[in-house]
Amino acid sequence: MSNDPLKLTGNGHEVDLPVMEGSVGPKVIDIRKLYAQTDMFTFDPGFTSTASCESKITYIDGEKGELQYRGYPIEQLAADSDFMEVCYLLLFGELPTKAEKEKFVWDITHHTMLHEQLHRFFSGFRRDAHPMAIMVGVVGALAAFYHDSTEINDPHQRMVASYRLIAKIPTIAAMAYKYSVGQPFVYPSNDLSYAGNFLNMMFSVPSEDYKVNPILEEAMDLIFILHADHEQNASTSTVRLAGSSGANPFACIAAGIACLWGPAHGGANEACLNMLGEIGTVDRIPEFVARAKDKSDPFRLMGFGHRVYKNFDPRATVMRDTAHKVLKELGVDDPLFDVAMELEKIALEDPYFIEKKLYPNVDFYSGVILKAMGFPTEMFTVLFALARTSGWIAQWNEMIEDPTQKIGRPRQLFTGTPKRDYVELDER
Ligand code: CMC
Repeated sequence: MSNDPLKLTGNGHEVDLPVMEGSVGPKVIDIRKLYAQTDMFTFDPGFTSTASCESKITYIDGEKGELQYRGYPIEQLAADSDFMEVCYLLLFGELPTKAEKEKFVWDITHHTMLHEQLHRFFSGFRRDAHPMAIMVGVVGALAAFYHDSTEINDPHQRMVASYRLIAKIPTIAAMAYKYSVGQPFVYPSNDLSYAGNFLNMMFSVPSEDYKVNPILEEAMDLIFILHADHEQNASTSTVRLAGSSGANPFACIAAGIACLWGPAHGGANEACLNMLGEIGTVDRIPEFVARAKDKSDPFRLMGFGHRVYKNFDPRATVMRDTAHKVLKELGVDDPLFDVAMELEKIALEDPYFIEKKLYPNVDFYSGVILKAMGFPTEMFTVLFALARTSGWIAQWNEMIEDPTQKIGRPRQLFTGTPKRDYVELDER
């Protein structure tokens, strides 16, 4: 196939649309001049056929079930890398050398503390607030505390904001949890790893010693790697759209967190675990599978299906193995895990799910692992947000540095009432 322009003929028009080619993946039709040439927009709700930007960060082949960060397959990163290295890779494009990694880890570790005044911000929330609501509020409020990293046209300030976000997000997440259970906040410990420090801030209490379990620390780090970035998904697109207006990075990441909260996106891990709890026992699975297939019932099997993956979600495969490892380490015999395993089996053999290419996604297994590790369900999406902050901020930086970047401003197909005259109140 050549890169000849695509000819579009009809409706009184004949236009040549340039075809662009990336390094891998489908070609892209450049429609930037279409409106000027034809006085027509394109219509693509949900952006199922639209590339919103050029990016060099993450590549997904949904048909083959492949995910790569900067070219490196997720399976290799999951097996051999760690989250700090992945953050560096996403931000800077290459794996760090030993010296670069040491410096990056040192810099992130030394930005983990929150401005002390921010502690008081938490007490404004109700005790039973959903931690995602706290995350949206506190991350947005960072802009009020770190003025020296909100000038988006200064590359140094952009990088300081990026480091601050990656470093402080675990502290904020753990504080949101501690606040909800009425325990004192735990300050970060610089002698622990990124994942280990987070587990310590989550689960330690001043009254006794807490030792981070290395298997859980490894699993936590892996969960962070698997969730770090995922191309132009809804929350990443939200971060880019918010950033396209020149908004500061803290506001943009808060917007991303708000979008991630939805059950069709990051909220699916929480929804999935709630669903497994609702199913309760293996014998009730057929009833729920039947509901998922019933067009008149809005119920969907949470943790199944994906906009891009029409084959196994490669993150789910890694997560499945980790789930077994974690449950074994903790000696957990969780009936929900039996329900999950049986549900996976039944759904994968069902013609409805086969025909629609609905496979378990990353959220199907993550909830089971997180529950076994002691995280309450409300924290699941928070953990997703924590990990995804690295991807969001890398994508935000890429967007700011892109010379073709413009404010995001979609158009619409207007189907409302055309112009009409105002009717006085007593004449209506
Ligand atoms: N259970 C039952 N039927 C489903 C499901 C499901 N989980 N997902 C999709 N379908 C059906 C849907 O009814 C539709 O059928 P039809 O063609 O007959 O109308 C068909 O499959 C295509 O679905 P769609 O909604 O048009 O697909 P989409 O690409 O717009 O939606 C999705 C993708 C992830 C929102 C959807 O599959 C879903 O709601 N899944 C459950 C929520 C979930 O697990 N989300 C996590 C996604 S992975 C983590 C992340 O990246 O955030």
